[in-house]
Amino acid sequence: MRKVAIAGNWKMYKTQTEALEFLQNFLPTLETTPEDRDIILCAPFTTLASMSKNLHGSRVQVGAQNIHWEDAGAYTGEIAGPMLTEIGVRFVVVGHSERRQYFGETDETVNLRLKAAQKNRLTPILCVGETKAQRDAGETESHLFGQIERGLVGVDQNHLIIAYEPIWAIGTGDTCAADEANRVIGLIRSRLKNPDTTIQYGGSVNPKNVDELMAQPEIDGALVGGASLTAESFSRIVNYQ
Ligand code: 13P
Repeated sequence: MRKVAIAGNWKMYKTQTEALEFLQNFLPTLETTPEDRDIILCAPFTTLASMSKNLHGSRVQVGAQNIHWEDAGAYTGEIAGPMLTEIGVRFVVVGHSERRQYFGETDETVNLRLKAAQKNRLTPILCVGETKAQRDAGETESHLFGQIERGLVGVDQNHLIIAYEPIWAIGTGDTCAADEANRVIGLIRSRLKNPDTTIQYGGSVNPKNVDELMAQPEIDGALVGGASLTAESFSRIVNYQ
């Protein structure tokens, strides 16, 4: 059985105070949320410890947005698996297109980070996606298959979430059509050893389009950026119908 996972990716937003304010407004809205879905918040490092404390006993799980491949070392500015697990982090976003674009992340470093996450018993959320130019050139499939193949060498597909995030749909309001996201996710699934891997869609998911996206048979969840930043809109998303 494939698991449904709705995750917020807060990116570089929210101080600790703002994060706790969010939780105060968000948690009460989960009382009637169906049990069939996991809820994850991937928050900035400085908020993780207090988020984790405040979410104890709730159904919301905490995720980070990066992990280094070593457990410790001289890697200024990086964060290690044991630092995350010690404070109750359970998930980590790996290979987000913003990290690939601005911080030189490659399929090879993505692969190392995925393996480090699993070694530390964190579930990585591997992000893959094509640019507009790649899509227009008919290279969507070959690009995604390459990212998957190189990224997943030696990675356990039983403890993994994949997020299909077309880069042209991120932060643009230009959501991928639900049937197209469904088609591409089906193709990604066909390349996996474990067809039951949870595969999310990400890219301008919002309260208005979430129901249609989640109604697609291949889409097992959402990775939500901008619309996860207010309790009201993220609550509507996790309570999709
Ligand atoms: P938006 O939902 O803001 O488009 O961001 C998507 C994303 O990058 C999630 O990781």
